[in-house]
Amino acid sequence: MDIFSICTAAAWDIEFKQHEQENAISDLESGKIIFCPQLSFNIDPSERMLFIPYLINKKTKNISFNLKKNHLKGIKTDQKHQVCLKLMLARFSEQANCFMSSLFAQYTNSLTIGRTSYRPVQIRNRKTSARKDDRRLHVDAFAANPNQGHRIVRLFCNINPYGEHRVWHIGESFEEVAQRFLPKINKPIPGSAKFLYWLGITKSIRTHYDHIMLKIHDSMKLDMDYQKQVKYKEISFPPGTSWIVSTDQVSHAAISGQYLLEQTFYLPPTAMANPKSAPLHILEKLSGHCLT
Ligand code: SIN
Ligand code: FE
Repeated sequence: MDIFSICTAAAWDIEFKQHEQENAISDLESGKIIFCPQLSFNIDPSERMLFIPYLINKKTKNISFNLKKNHLKGIKTDQKHQVCLKLMLARFSEQANCFMSSLFAQYTNSLTIGRTSYRPVQIRNRKTSARKDDRRLHVDAFAANPNQGHRIVRLFCNINPYGEHRVWHIGESFEEVAQRFLPKINKPIPGSAKFLYWLGITKSIRTHYDHIMLKIHDSMKLDMDYQKQVKYKEISFPPGTSWIVSTDQVSHAAISGQYLLEQTFYLPPTAMANPKSAPLHILEKLSGHCLT
């Protein structure tokens, strides 16, 4: 399968034709990356001060932004940088939302917006634990934010001002990943989901689906033989380009690059054109159980 689908849109407030919307949905759901080579984010001259890696608190990978609460997490610098970053991320989030609502209009109001993030750290030599190391192939699953079967769709935009590409590896299909790792995953300890929620470790109940997705995420990253042996394709996103991908489905690793914007969206599988391609349905088919 071709891993790319090209979208030639050059503005965030564009209207898409019906066949473009249908193709985008079919490509996204089948695990393609929708690459938009002309979709760039304009940086205001006053925002150039944000191109410094030490904006970030060392303990976190990204600076995340909650638009509704106007709240930044993971930043350690002064008020001036915070105000500037909030304005830039709010603008990016609104533009990304406008673009996605138009390209995926057929999801009607089911595509909901999540966190926005700014990733100012060079990933090539970043020191981090194996579980947090996004240079290893994985599918996304959130430990504290169970998504209970909902899809994770992300829009990325490389804003590197020095011409540096974002380099990714793309691994095998979700079905292949699931077939390989699912048989090794034990059931959650009875009562553990409620306990984690009660302790405040998870923000909602971790369903059996979330348990499996987290275990797949961890097992992939911790298995160095798998990382070395599995087939992958290397792709490179130049600055001034954007791309959209279902990161819960597409096995990916971010190998190098610095200064990236990302907007997360969630989608219930019931809103999909082909719900059978959702990780939830693939895992239910393979396990023979209902997982949410
Ligand atoms: C990831 O989702 O694993 C990281 C993507 C990136 O930062 O390029
Ligand atoms: Fe990821």
